[in-house]
Amino acid sequence: MKHPIAYILAVLAMTAFFSGAALADTFEGRSKCSSCHKSQAKSWKDTAHAKAMESLKPGTRKEAKVKAKLDPEKDYTQDKDCVGCHVDRFGKKGGYTIDAPKKPLAAVGCESCHGPGRTYRGDHRKAGQIFEKKGKGKE
Ligand code: HEC
Ligand code: HEC
Ligand code: HEC
Repeated sequence: MKHPIAYILAVLAMTAFFSGAALADTFEGRSKCSSCHKSQAKSWKDTAHAKAMESLKPGTRKEAKVKAKLDPEKDYTQDKDCVGCHVDRFGKKGGYTIDAPKKPLAAVGCESCHGPGRTYRGDHRKAGQIFEKKGKGKE
């Protein structure tokens, strides 16, 4: 198995390669990733990244908002000046939108860091075959 960093670099290289082509970067959403990567999904849930959208709701993170001169009672979940960094792929094809928000893309999910699932399906297929052969994986 490749080292995770090498893998991520490969993902980034592929993303750069495909972005020039007609292939759309399609985000699959974290629920898909989580269905296989259960242990990563479980630890991700406890991170601030998982709660990024919660922080924009009224009444949450009051202290931090007051400190930042924001209104703690205001709903920032539809504010285009805020959501961009608090969700997956805002404004990009297949990413989160304010008009039709998709729950699996709300928060800083797996694909924010690992890139859109679709661009590395080939690599994943190989990993999946190894997984099936061995009958086990890293989860
Ligand atoms: C059908 C099950 C399945 C789905 C869905 C899936 N993965 Fe995987 N993934 C695997 C398997 C199996 C491996 C290989 C594990 C190993 O080599 O031990 C893997 C490998 C990886 C690796 C590389 C691990 C390494 O050490 O090299 C990353 C990163 C990853 N997946 C992220 C994701 C993300 C992000 C998503 C959602 C877009 C996703 N996976 C969806 C099964 C899946
Ligand atoms: C340029 C990216 C970016 C934008 C735009 C952005 N945020 Fe954030 N936000 C972050 C990052 C990164 C963190 C986590 C690091 C931190 O807490 O400073 C964060 C953290 C937060 C937190 C949690 C702070 C805490 O300490 O608990 C709140 C609340 C928040 N943002 C609200 C907002 C609101 C409201 C807006 C719009 C007015 C906004 N953000 C716009 C990147 C952004
Ligand atoms: C904030 C960025 C970030 C987010 C969000 C994120 N990852 Fe990762 N992930 C990384 C980095 C960086 C590594 C490699 C370094 C390491 O192994 O700690 C990694 C490693 C992995 C690996 C390799 C095996 C392992 O555990 O080291 C898998 C599989 C994986 N992530 C899946 C996921 C899934 C599934 C999600 C969503 C539930 C997710 N990641 C969310 C950055 C992220």
